[in-house]
Amino acid sequence: MPITVLLLSCLTAGAQEIISTKNTCMVLDAPEKEVPVILYYGVRLTAADAASLPASGAGSFAAYPSHNDSSESLEALSVRMPDGNLSADLRVSSVKKETWEGGEVLTVSCKDPLYPLEVDLKYKSYQDQDVISTWTEIRWNGAKKKPVVLTRFDSGCLPIRQGDVWVSSFGGSWAGEMPLFCQPLGPGVRSISNKDGVRNSQTAHAEVMISLDGKPQELYGRVIGAALCYSGNYDLRFETGDSRYESVHRFYAGIDPSNSNYTLMPGECFVTPELAFSWSSEGLSGVSRNFHRWGRRYKLAHGGEVNDILLNSWEGVYFDINEDGMHRMMKDIAEMGGELFVMDDGWFGDKYPRKDDHTSLGDWVVDRNKLPSGVEGLVAEARRNGIKFGIWIEPEMANTKSELYEAHPDWIINSPGREIVQGRGGTQVVLDLGNPEVQEHVFGVFDGIMTAWPGIAYIKWDANMSIPSQGSKYLKNQEHLYIEYHRGLEKVLDRIRAKYPDVAIQACASGGGRVNWGILPWFDEFWTSDNTDALQRVYIQWGTSYFFPAEAMAAHIGASPNHTTGREIPLKFRIDVAMSERLGLELQPSVMSQSERDRCKAAISDYKKIRDIVQLGDIYRIVSPYDGKGLATLLYATPSKDRAVFFWYKTEYFHNLLAPSSLLAGLDPDRNYRITELDPDGKALPFEGKVFSGRFLMENGLDIPAANSAPGPHRDFASHVLYLQAE
Ligand code: GLA
Repeated sequence: MPITVLLLSCLTAGAQEIISTKNTCMVLDAPEKEVPVILYYGVRLTAADAASLPASGAGSFAAYPSHNDSSESLEALSVRMPDGNLSADLRVSSVKKETWEGGEVLTVSCKDPLYPLEVDLKYKSYQDQDVISTWTEIRWNGAKKKPVVLTRFDSGCLPIRQGDVWVSSFGGSWAGEMPLFCQPLGPGVRSISNKDGVRNSQTAHAEVMISLDGKPQELYGRVIGAALCYSGNYDLRFETGDSRYESVHRFYAGIDPSNSNYTLMPGECFVTPELAFSWSSEGLSGVSRNFHRWGRRYKLAHGGEVNDILLNSWEGVYFDINEDGMHRMMKDIAEMGGELFVMDDGWFGDKYPRKDDHTSLGDWVVDRNKLPSGVEGLVAEARRNGIKFGIWIEPEMANTKSELYEAHPDWIINSPGREIVQGRGGTQVVLDLGNPEVQEHVFGVFDGIMTAWPGIAYIKWDANMSIPSQGSKYLKNQEHLYIEYHRGLEKVLDRIRAKYPDVAIQACASGGGRVNWGILPWFDEFWTSDNTDALQRVYIQWGTSYFFPAEAMAAHIGASPNHTTGREIPLKFRIDVAMSERLGLELQPSVMSQSERDRCKAAISDYKKIRDIVQLGDIYRIVSPYDGKGLATLLYATPSKDRAVFFWYKTEYFHNLLAPSSLLAGLDPDRNYRITELDPDGKALPFEGKVFSGRFLMENGLDIPAANSAPGPHRDFASHVLYLQAE
């Protein structure tokens, strides 16, 4: 996104440089000809405290360690000079500070005294969101044809003072996205990396929370959040020395250099991805609120505008697309009050009609046997029903059984001379997006669809395979493949957004495989997980909300038994879990009973009343499902705290087990709130319609019965959604 530079002031190199946000700041020391160091990151300092920093006993640590100043630490930058020298030495040459409409940008320019290598360390503040990001711009001014090879090129490094420091990180796999792991930092190096090539949140996440005051707490304590904003492979490292003289842990993050050294040509500038930090002394949820505000304002397409309530066809019909079925689903979602219908996989293919996942990716033509009136007919039918229409594509991929592959076998990624490694369905391959012809093709898929059917309001953009076998027929330097793939993707997405700024696009990658602030600027939302089991979703959505706002997080009511887990869960619980993010449906409405349809209709109507609070409000996670209490609670409040929604999920039930009373959070202690339960399930809670002060709700809380009213096997899944309106 373009940055407007409003003011430019050049400072002389030397002394302290401070970059600030409303409540935080980072302090560097960057005297000319010295190695730049970071002195401090945390709560905003007074000028006097900043001046006294060195006397506080806090050490100073290289802001961007390279292989000449870092014998005792890892490197953020490693190089191979044309003469074989493996060291780089970065010394400050100048410092400048600019302002932009959202804050400041500090540039610490460094030069290697021996080689024509220049590195700008960039620090950018997002004033109102309390985010400070960093990245580097690496330039090589060497002699013609003599490149330098970058063998490590992190976006940045942050020293973190030693203490009882814990890291919350996320794993992930298909249908089990964003599980949370909390561990104290101990001696050694801990690395979190992803080498999928395409879906960079498929196995791990490029975001971490760092709690400075012991075991991570949701509402209390000092926490630093870090998010590497990059769509490709990454490597995050925590380094802790085992000497008692070490006063810091060091955190490094950047593009993963494995099999991915970058050859920088004379005159070329390599810009590393943005690494965003946020600090809060209001616990993990405090950092989440900052990232949500920042993401909605700067990193999400149409951030700050609520997203539509939709029905997606996938779990309702899978590949069994046909015109009558689509018409019926559109009518059903329209009758329930939904706003959008999305036709998922299975609508395309001519020579090879898409009947399952073995064929047709690449052949983006309508299967007229399934849809005789074409997509134009469906768009018109959606309009007749008063809803919008969306469609699924997977444009970065092909099947080897497709007309596209037959025409362009050289467009796929695969190691030269080796058997083709095929993915999903045993026949899927990844297109080589480093190749401009492939970029043209991928753009053309999107453009072709939008040109043929301009009524389309929403595209679900999927990517269901990793790069399994490194090799491009187009690229001269195979080490550049991963980086060029993502550069190609960004170019295509830039073109798409320039031409189609209004269409909503969902990022899907085998579910939540592309949940990262590096890719979301082109997307409105993401498919959080293919797993629609409401119990597992409580956990998946909990973790995902650490860095990503509800506006972006698609949560659909699925069928029972659930298609992934086989678990039976009552409809109320399934609805209440989906209501806490961007609500949708992922089932076949025609097999629902009338009472189930009525309940969904009522839920959609309720959701419209609370949607702005959930999607655009401030999150307060309160009781974690990971804490073993059989309970999870969270609350969203509007920024002015005049309205709030409290979600209460009982994830398991034991008879006569004490239920903890539920403290609320994030309310105004001095205001009174009237409580109304959405869908009370036929049994009003004792406090229904009553008024309590915010102080009472946060200090005393409410006692919520531990079981739902349903008899029989469903007592595990009691849930309540309470709407709070200030009076
Ligand atoms: C992936 C997505 C699903 C669905 C299928 C279609 O698995 O995550 O939501 O779109 O592809 O093949």
